[in-house]
Amino acid sequence: MKIGVLGAGQLGRMMAISGYPLNHQFGFSGNANNEPAALLGHMFVHEDNADNIESLAAFADVITYESENTNIEAVREINKNIPVYPGEISLHTTQHRGREKALFDKLNVPCARYCMVNTLEDLKLAVKKIGLPAILKTATEGYDGKGQFLIDNPDQIQQAFTSMNSVELILEGFVNFKRELSLIAVRDKHNNHKYYPLVDNTHHQGILRLTIAPAQDIDAKVQETAEKYMQTLLDAMDHVGILTIEFFETENGLVVNEMAPRVHNSGHWSINGANTSQFENHIRAISGMPLGDTNPTHKVSAMINIVSEIGQIDLVLNMPNAHLHLYDKTERKDRKLGHINITANSLRELENSIQQLQSFLPQ
Ligand SMILES: Nc1ncnc2c1ncn2[C@@H]1O[C@H](COP(=O)(O)OP(=O)(O)O)[C@@H](O)[C@H]1O
Ligand SMILES: [Mg+2]
Repeated sequence: MKIGVLGAGQLGRMMAISGYPLNHQFGFSGNANNEPAALLGHMFVHEDNADNIESLAAFADVITYESENTNIEAVREINKNIPVYPGEISLHTTQHRGREKALFDKLNVPCARYCMVNTLEDLKLAVKKIGLPAILKTATEGYDGKGQFLIDNPDQIQQAFTSMNSVELILEGFVNFKRELSLIAVRDKHNNHKYYPLVDNTHHQGILRLTIAPAQDIDAKVQETAEKYMQTLLDAMDHVGILTIEFFETENGLVVNEMAPRVHNSGHWSINGANTSQFENHIRAISGMPLGDTNPTHKVSAMINIVSEIGQIDLVLNMPNAHLHLYDKTERKDRKLGHINITANSLRELENSIQQLQSFLPQ
């Protein structure tokens, strides 16, 4: 099949790398010919910065996207002629934190207390209702912790509001979590589901730095609960492709943070650590192929993001159990440039390997 991807970043790049062995072809729409996926397929560059994606749609048999911030009007237009997966409901819901949380409420999936906020008055009322600390976030467009303000005391309310040059905001109660976990699953058009194990994510300044897969010390019941929430959400949105849910692990069980209708940074370990990677399973689902096995191939794996600068990659290349994935990006502060996957047969072995690669991690 000819698969069209809206976007040409690292996620599209890795989709293509996993999709060629399945005999698919790829096309991308993006802003420039030097984006990470540009050399992996036909590149349709937006002209004059407009969302000119008609040529991509003419090329493709099926369309997918890299980001929940994809223009929904464009997707609706394309969808009149060719299928777009995940579908409009998934995109519409997940691109707005308020709509997403309304769906969690409707399906009894636990999430942080929240209030939608448009004005300073709304924010003051919301703080009264939810209490502090709380996090003010833009309703749309946030990523890597951008567009957020942690309010610790009432003196910060005014400052928090003015710092957000956006009309639509959401205030969320701060969740006291032990760990951040995520679950990745895939659903096909025939309602088959497959789940990866819960993984453990460590962020630094809003950016994911380390994933351990599977997360250690997870009760089978917790995995089961996560899968139950996942299945409810997949089915409610009639989702086709990969869906990711970010969770807070708390004293009182799992609380959902947010979800993404796409392959996710916390699933990159699966390229080397699972029988079928998240990228291949996404491509299989949207192209009507049978879903692949999601079981880990090793006792435990890790993914370390390469952020801001490439660093000493020879360290990685000299380790038998480490795998380098670079995205063909130039160095820039806080930019995700690639990642390292580590596979191991014991937690001890994994910890030793992470230790050897610690120059890639923040202090
Ligand atoms: N309600 C909350 N309580 C506690 N921590 C939070 C909350 N919301 C977000 N965070 C922290 O901020 C990070 C980024 O927030 P998130 O909503 O996931 O935005 P992004 O879209 O940038 O990933 C989370 O991974 C978590 O560490
Ligand atoms: Mg997040």
